[in-house]
Amino acid sequence: MPSEVFSVAILLEEENLYDRCRIYATDLSDGVLRAARAGTFSLGQMKEYSENYLRAGGKSTLSDYYTAAYDKVLFRKALHRNVVFAQHNRASDRSFKEFNVILCRNVLSYFAPSLQDEVSRLLYDSLAIFGVLGLGRKESLKSTGLQRRYETLDPVERLYRRTT
Ligand SMILES: C[S@@+](CC[C@H](N)C(=O)[O-])C[C@H]1O[C@@H](n2cnc3c(N)ncnc32)[C@H](O)[C@@H]1O
Repeated sequence: MPSEVFSVAILLEEENLYDRCRIYATDLSDGVLRAARAGTFSLGQMKEYSENYLRAGGKSTLSDYYTAAYDKVLFRKALHRNVVFAQHNRASDRSFKEFNVILCRNVLSYFAPSLQDEVSRLLYDSLAIFGVLGLGRKESLKSTGLQRRYETLDPVERLYRRTT
């Protein structure tokens, strides 16, 4: 989740949408939330992240968003200004808001099929009509019975738009 928070924040910033948005960065794990809040990454990850940034249509260079020191980089704290970090258990907690975009990549596949169904329902209930859901590349809505409530926007990146 740490890198996803910064990717979304940078995307919104570059589209001049950031100050109209709030990002809820949630995870079950305290450690993951701490790492995301800290905003530090190893320098070794930056080559791949920079390539991804440019492939995704980044308008600047990724290094404009961080400072490097020794083998670490620190992302600009300003990128967190509209981020709410919160612990949330997707397996047992309820929806807490209606969202326009939900990224839940590589989480569902760790759950047993019956729990995948419940969590998919939670994601559906948490998404506004015409909101977009992103799953991991090996995940899908096929087995959940909810697929007909979405249109597929990108079958590779598993992006779906809620239609009903
Ligand atoms: C494989 S990682 C995926 C991280 C990121 N989305 C990605 O694609 O790189 C799975 C994440 O799900 C979190 N997680 C596991 N069970 C969870 C639950 N019940 N509720 C919320 N988060 C959970 C883990 O702490 C971990 O950060």
